[in-house]
Amino acid sequence: MQLGIDDLAFATADRYLDLADLAPVHGVEPAKYTVGLGQDRMSVAAPDEDVVTLAASAALPLVERMSEQDRASIRTVLLATESGIDQSKSAGVYVHRLLGLPAAARVVELKQACYAGTSALQMALALVARNPEQKVLVICSDVARYDVGSSGEPTQGCGAVAMLVTANPRLVAIEPVSGLHTTDIMDFWRPNYRTTAVVDGRLSLRAYTDSLSGAWADLQAQGGPAFADIDTFVYHQPFTKMAVKAHAHLTRLVGAPRDAEVMDAQIADSLRYNREIGNSYTASMYIGLVSLLDHATDDLAGSRIGFFSYGSGAVGEFFTGVVQPGYRDHLRTAAHRRLLDDRTRISHAEYSAIVAPVNPVDGGDHEVPASTRNPFRLAAITGHQRLYERSA
Ligand code: CAA
Repeated sequence: MQLGIDDLAFATADRYLDLADLAPVHGVEPAKYTVGLGQDRMSVAAPDEDVVTLAASAALPLVERMSEQDRASIRTVLLATESGIDQSKSAGVYVHRLLGLPAAARVVELKQACYAGTSALQMALALVARNPEQKVLVICSDVARYDVGSSGEPTQGCGAVAMLVTANPRLVAIEPVSGLHTTDIMDFWRPNYRTTAVVDGRLSLRAYTDSLSGAWADLQAQGGPAFADIDTFVYHQPFTKMAVKAHAHLTRLVGAPRDAEVMDAQIADSLRYNREIGNSYTASMYIGLVSLLDHATDDLAGSRIGFFSYGSGAVGEFFTGVVQPGYRDHLRTAAHRRLLDDRTRISHAEYSAIVAPVNPVDGGDHEVPASTRNPFRLAAITGHQRLYERSA
């Protein structure tokens, strides 16, 4: 029996900052971002959006496509995030209610930087293996924030991905062997008292590729597929150039021919959406998967994808999946394109007004003015409770 991703969709903010408008503020050429980092735009979450609303927006199309009976078979919701809104209550519980899912379900939030979505996926596969009748809803949702004026600022972004994990999946069957690598390192983290991440940029780049080497070595030791048996690669993308660097690193590591055209073909389609969205932490690699499936001109059915998931701190996992016959009939390519094309370009001044408040939603009771055009919004904070509503 095969297990894997049966349905897949992403959501992002309804507005973006073009990095050409950030470059002069940092006193650099736009090419530093568009060429050097491989980023054109970054999605900016509205003041009434957070990981809950983004997660619910990503999962809504999946749930709407399901029959009532299928919805009842979602007995687990796993929500991965590193920009959570509460230290105790899972963001997933709010999402579960917003989506109208049945009460007979377990819901939990998972955290290990950008890697947590992959841990959620692996746990979902294990649950479905135990009872193939059930479905698990995995959601990865994040708002990436760095200090204003820092070198990380142009790599911000936000987004969420929802995946339905089932037996006999219609999109991608995940193979059982994984390569794992964990090491205790301070390359990127966010202490509880901060709303923005602390990062050692140089160290983080090295930590990422070291983790890739370690996870790849373990994959081989565990009997996983050889490099030549993998057709396309989807890497975690803090910025898309990182995936290009990672693929060059792996190609060099395994001693494969370094043909630029072949290497580009192995990853290019997975980079397209993230170039326009920016970093979405846990969601980033899975938005890369959506991008690959939505953009590949060749039919990928039967081909093998290699995934490298990295979460600072640091945990890396290399795993593989096989694209299923007929997968194209279940994609949402037009809806995803529309989502990006319908975003509003905001000025640097408008962006600054959104990110300026240090703790925009903490403090006393208040209503949050309506802003986002996405399906769900944070409406108010009352008695330290966050009140969400359907906005569209
Ligand atoms: N035209 C073209 N390219 C230019 C250019 C120009 N005018 N000016 C500079 N560049 C190039 C540089 O040569 C460099 O490319 P190479 O690395 O290929 O040489 C690239 O633009 C970036 O320039 P710098 O290295 O000088 O950039 P920086 O030091 O200001 O910032 C960064 C880079 C450290 C990655 C920073 O963006 C950062 O801190 N980002 C956040 C941390 C991060 O994303 N780390 C990635 C690994 S950790 C992870 O993956 C987890 C996660 O999600 C955070």
